[in-house]
Amino acid sequence: MAKTLLLKNASELVTCRGHAPKCGPAMQDIGIIEDGALWLEDGIIRKVGATDEVLSGIAATPDTVIDATGRCVLPGFVDPHTHFLFAGHRAEEFSWRLRGDTYMDIMERGGGIINSVRATRQASADELLAIGLRRLDSMLSFGVTTVEGKSGYGLDAATELKQLAVMAELDRQHPVEVVRTFMGAHAVPAEYKGRTDEFVDYLLQDVLPLVAEQRLAEFCDVFCEKGVFSVEQSRRLLTAAQSLGLQAKVHADEIVTLGGAELAAELGALSAEHLLHASDAGIRRMAETGVIAVLLPATAFCLREPYARARFMIDSGVPVALATDFNPGSCFSESIPLVIALAALYMQMTPAEIVTALTINAAAAVGRANRIGSLERGKQGDFVLLDHPSHLYLPYHAGVNCVATVVKRGEIVYERQRR
Ligand code: NIG
Ligand code: FE
Repeated sequence: MAKTLLLKNASELVTCRGHAPKCGPAMQDIGIIEDGALWLEDGIIRKVGATDEVLSGIAATPDTVIDATGRCVLPGFVDPHTHFLFAGHRAEEFSWRLRGDTYMDIMERGGGIINSVRATRQASADELLAIGLRRLDSMLSFGVTTVEGKSGYGLDAATELKQLAVMAELDRQHPVEVVRTFMGAHAVPAEYKGRTDEFVDYLLQDVLPLVAEQRLAEFCDVFCEKGVFSVEQSRRLLTAAQSLGLQAKVHADEIVTLGGAELAAELGALSAEHLLHASDAGIRRMAETGVIAVLLPATAFCLREPYARARFMIDSGVPVALATDFNPGSCFSESIPLVIALAALYMQMTPAEIVTALTINAAAAVGRANRIGSLERGKQGDFVLLDHPSHLYLPYHAGVNCVATVVKRGEIVYERQRR
């Protein structure tokens, strides 16, 4: 007998229906069903509709019933860009930035990512696992049911593999689904200082093939940035990754306009991320080639940089997703409420566009739009219940976590006490 779950009487069931990233006006269409219900069998959605309709079509008594009266129900949020698995912290660097140092100043002085690399190399797999479990708990409480995690705090074969293997174990142990991205080209480690091309050779010869062979990552990302990896070096790495079956992602135009957006379009990358300084031409090329823009407003906020031009991107036909970028440096925050508030107030995104950007488009940015990111027949039963009756409260209840209950694959995995 299948295990069944009925959710009924949702004041607003936000379905976000679709199996592909949405762009332009389609980002506004979030498929709201009033007084909505869901029927799940073995964690998979079998029926979606108005409560009357769904109830009339079921004969069996459900194993679990959730009464969502007065609540908005949405697909579980997908956080498609994080660097959540690292050891150590960089609170001191943050205080230096408050004083006026820039992110790149600190990196050029030998701080930044390299500091986290030192701590992560020293940490055992068990230590990283314990750290990861705690962080996933926190993300889950914000309604995140799937997260992408990047390596890149190892920068050597052993530690990169360790980071990815720990993320695979976290995926097995924790209800939050963890999608892995290899980002060995995150910074140039001390032992290769001044020899970036040789470090790229090392990654190509000694690390990437192991990652591919052991199926430790689905995606490959590069910090394509002035003073870090050039467009040419990024192209070499990503092309090799693609030939080994990994899809490309690019940290593009975060600090300066370098042509990362154009590179993502040229390579047919799945996504280009950050894009604070992406050129008009780069954005248009992304629209033409269907590259997803993963925007990270909490990073712009923490770096006191201008926000990515979400409005121009959406109006140009680029599918936009949102993510936290949770990492120890540029954005030590896994807060979805912060991302929502900034996207609404500073990026001119509408509440409906924000919902699309955190659900179906974010699912597409991790290659899972056919399985998660919307509430419709055949999809995985991942959803959240808010304290409020409508998705409009997400930006309105500014900076506050509105998530009361989280369901993953048909199981209640998080319940907050009522306020
Ligand atoms: O997305 N830009 C590169 N990577 C991260 C920062 C990582 C770190 O500072 O540890 C980012 O901003
Ligand atoms: Fe990042």
